[in-house]
Amino acid sequence: MQKLFIKGSKELNGKISISGSKNATLPILAASILANKVRLRNIPLVQDIFTMIQLLKFIGLKAKIIKKKNYVEITNSDKNINTLAPYKLVKTMRAGVLVLGSLLARYGKAKVSLPGGCAIGTRPVDLHLLALKKLGAQIKIKNGYIVAEAKKGLRGAIINFPTISVGATENALLASFRASGKTILKNCATEPEIQDLIIFLKKLGSKIILKGRTITITQKKIKKTKIVHNVIFDRIELGTYMIASALTTKKGVTLDKINPKIVRTEIEVLRKIGIKIIKKKSSVIIKKNKKLKRINISTKPYPGFPTDLQAQLMVLLTQVNGKSKIREDIFENRFMHVPELRRMGAKIEIKGKTAIINGPTKLTGAEVMATDLRASVSLVLAGLVAENRTIINRIYHLDRGYEFLEKKLKYCKAEIERV
Ligand code: EPZ
Repeated sequence: MQKLFIKGSKELNGKISISGSKNATLPILAASILANKVRLRNIPLVQDIFTMIQLLKFIGLKAKIIKKKNYVEITNSDKNINTLAPYKLVKTMRAGVLVLGSLLARYGKAKVSLPGGCAIGTRPVDLHLLALKKLGAQIKIKNGYIVAEAKKGLRGAIINFPTISVGATENALLASFRASGKTILKNCATEPEIQDLIIFLKKLGSKIILKGRTITITQKKIKKTKIVHNVIFDRIELGTYMIASALTTKKGVTLDKINPKIVRTEIEVLRKIGIKIIKKKSSVIIKKNKKLKRINISTKPYPGFPTDLQAQLMVLLTQVNGKSKIREDIFENRFMHVPELRRMGAKIEIKGKTAIINGPTKLTGAEVMATDLRASVSLVLAGLVAENRTIINRIYHLDRGYEFLEKKLKYCKAEIERV
């Protein structure tokens, strides 16, 4: 089993280029089922992307990754199609459930494994199914699978989501791509990753209008020619390195290949804490102010502060003066990093949905492990700021979503090794 060894209390200085977004690439890969030929550029070379590509190949698409240039070429020639997403693939990566919408749209049927619960919450898919039913699909749950059919094709509908869900919005967008007439999706998630999926579907021939939290989909003249698309940058990777830099830098760290407008909330929150951030057109420079201030914050759907940065922000808050509070409003079980951070000396109390962080505390290295991607990376950040050595176990979680993590950190002078 591989581990990460981090020698902490080192200054990070230099430059990191941000990769393409994992959470934008995944739904666009699912959308490739709707196209004939796709070249997807700026994909991150991480395990979840490899798993999704494996799933597309299982379904019958041809896919070739050109790793040196971070792109994948996908062809769907409608030959030997298997409208099945098996348990063995969906259980390791929940985004596998997104092929449901695309398969139903193009082939009128799909059998997709139910993903089950996961380390951060129960994460049901009822809202995905609600949307597909409204579009005219017949759905049964049988032997742990979602069995969906739309023999006469899907038809446009008005769908009002009772709760905002990223995945359900994506599945509804994919399914409605070939639905007859007009589809109106209300109370949608509007994350930049969803906006990127919309750009891709427009290139594929859909007319889509996003206004507030409403998405209207009409007029599909499906393009048969090759679609080329550049995936948006990973705002969560950016946020993670903004916090890593805020924790450790003196001279400054430049994070480039980004658009600062997309991470306005994150920049505002870090500035409130006292981090100095210089915004450029396609980069930000992170510097640290001497005195860091406490904050109270809740995670929220975009444009709110993302749940995917909650664990990382918590590490920063262990270093500020006073009592800060983070309320986790998206997932019910996303404080799994807290016991591990406590083992490193953090003073954090949990009261229901809220974590209360007492700072500043000197963190000290320890052997730790985590249960999901963002919790794991929060331990990397804690290791970077802690005294002595931190050993991180179960680093396969990190490999699911952070491209070249050690390489990028080492480039900024961190002492980090995979053993
Ligand atoms: C996406 O998950 C992301 N995953 C998550 O990133 C991210 O944390 C999450 O959105 C929130 O921003 C991908 O994009 C691949 P949701 P998703 O549906 O779509 C409840 C990471 O670390 N819900 O917006 O699964 C759900 O339980 C990951 O990269 C229902 O009740 O999230 C949760 O409480 C982890 N019924 C809330 O909605 C449903 O049918 C939001 O979940 C669907 C969701």
